[in-house]
Amino acid sequence: MVLNNPFTIAFGKQPPQFISRLQQTETIINSFRAEVPTTQVYMLTGVRGSGKTVLLTNIAKIMREQDDWIVIELNPESDMIHGFASKLYSIPNLQKLFVKASLDLSMFGIGLSIEKSMPVANLESGIDRMLTELDKKNKKVLIEIDEVTNSEYMRVFASAFQIFMRQDHNVFLLMTGLYENINNLQNEKSLTFLYRVPKIFLSPLNIGAIARSYKEIFDISYDDALLMSKKTRGYPFAFQVLGYLKWENKEKKLEEILPVYQQYLEEYVYDKIYSELSVAEKKILLRIAKEKDEYIKVKEIRDTLTMNSSLFSTYRDKLIKKGLIDASQYGFMSLMLPGFGRFVIEHSFEL
Ligand SMILES: Nc1ncnc2c1ncn2[C@@H]1O[C@H](COP(=O)(O)OP(=O)(O)OP(=O)(O)O)[C@@H](O)[C@H]1O
Ligand SMILES: [Mg+2]
Repeated sequence: MVLNNPFTIAFGKQPPQFISRLQQTETIINSFRAEVPTTQVYMLTGVRGSGKTVLLTNIAKIMREQDDWIVIELNPESDMIHGFASKLYSIPNLQKLFVKASLDLSMFGIGLSIEKSMPVANLESGIDRMLTELDKKNKKVLIEIDEVTNSEYMRVFASAFQIFMRQDHNVFLLMTGLYENINNLQNEKSLTFLYRVPKIFLSPLNIGAIARSYKEIFDISYDDALLMSKKTRGYPFAFQVLGYLKWENKEKKLEEILPVYQQYLEEYVYDKIYSELSVAEKKILLRIAKEKDEYIKVKEIRDTLTMNSSLFSTYRDKLIKKGLIDASQYGFMSLMLPGFGRFVIEHSFEL
């Protein structure tokens, strides 16, 4: 019997080998479901391949299974107000409700026209009326948006959402985005509410959980599985790639797979991540990468880079938020992603 590879290197799909993020999932779900929600919006952020889309999809799936919750996915590359109105209106069970409330959106190309309907001035007020009907029925709406950027569609939608919240509708929003993009969006003057939105930084997956997954699938000792797990540093994409390659090359030793593993990481993500960094950020990363020890003293980097301390902390802060460096040990820094140091050194002739 030939079994399919249980690992996947495809982005944005729920992987068969899925490691749950218990704490972050529960934080979000519990605060949305609370009697008095602590927040109606969350932003998920993290480096490419850190599992933003997978976590978003997983939470949306859990919420869809709850009675009283409606989950709607919006595409940030299209007119999201129209998308929201038409998706909400076309949910079979709800349409009856809206028709009964004489809500006619046919002039916007949504649904059929109704006799003796009350005219709707624009789509925002159409949505407002639909939400009012849903509030009466105690239904809550969760909107999910993957990969937000500071685009015109997104700004228009966010400012409308801000108003729906102010009108006390039961609307919730879960978004993902790269740190740069989210930061850019929330610096928009008109969208001040985004500033206070809690951000969840996607941390590495649990190393023990990864080891247990490898142990079970490859039927190897826990020590060998742990060795493999540590090579991923908990980076979700790396977990999939290493598992995928090991499955395809079961007879090979781990050391023999590692060069191809490195190449996958580089071609699928590191090239892209690196190309989006500023020269100063690259210099800091290179300095850390060149260090023999895994951790380097912050002071040492600053001294050798001759960068003034406030400028340095700005870059350092950005690199932490982008998910590229770890500064959890006070006074020290290290690189987050597996094999990224080597990649940075090999590309440093460009600096
Ligand atoms: N919780 C998880 N358990 C196991 N594998 C995961 C998990 N989350 C993500 N992955 C794997 O990591 C890879 C990247 O996941 P995902 O597409 O969600 O990343 P992303 O952060 O949305 O990346 P991008 O910024 O490029 O959109 C995929 O191969 C996915 O299968
Ligand atoms: Mg994604």
